[in-house]
Amino acid sequence: PRVAVLISGRGSNMVALLEAATDPGYPAEIALVLSNRADAAGLARAEAAGVATAVVESRGFKGDRAGFEAAMQRELERHGIALIALAGFMRVLTEGFVSRWSGRMLNIHPSILPSFPGLDTHARALAAGVKLHGCTVHLVSPGVDEGPIVAQAAVPVLPDDDESRLAARVLEQEHRLYPAALAWLATGLAGNGPPPPGASGSLA
Ligand code: GRF
Repeated sequence: PRVAVLISGRGSNMVALLEAATDPGYPAEIALVLSNRADAAGLARAEAAGVATAVVESRGFKGDRAGFEAAMQRELERHGIALIALAGFMRVLTEGFVSRWSGRMLNIHPSILPSFPGLDTHARALAAGVKLHGCTVHLVSPGVDEGPIVAQAAVPVLPDDDESRLAARVLEQEHRLYPAALAWLATGLAGNGPPPPGASGSLA
């Protein structure tokens, strides 16, 4: 199935997915990298890898989330996208868009959900004094950082950790976990699997 990776920034998880997908045995093709910001560093990395990119500037749709999502949906359909992987995509999606892609859209979050949804997860984990932290890949449902959990990885929190050391330890696991979870989605082991040929994610 053809996958779109949605980014807003650096794109290191997107690169991990691209690298996994270069293996001829990998069950998904990264066919599009879509950013809501023209200045996302990840766009150049996708272009360097020869992957199609698109920008739908969310700033151009002030207060009009439905309009922004309709523009994204047009790009997704134009590229024949069947599955979506959110990877550092910093916009909250409406229930309409989420239900349209229900069971076909993953997100990666840098905590062991349901602990620490939202932002600043590493600082909050340190402040809480947890001894295990990590990351979660989940199917996207309307609530932010909610939805059925597909896979998780845990790392220890070490006595001399600061936010950046802990973040780096988690990120390494994100880059292992996300390609595995996307492969499960692509093969029907998680989620609803890809839509039938020609449907391009618009089954709702
Ligand atoms: C990652 O930590 C991801 O879990 C979170 O945002 C960060 C994105 O990093 N949702 P990158 O853009 O993939 O490098």
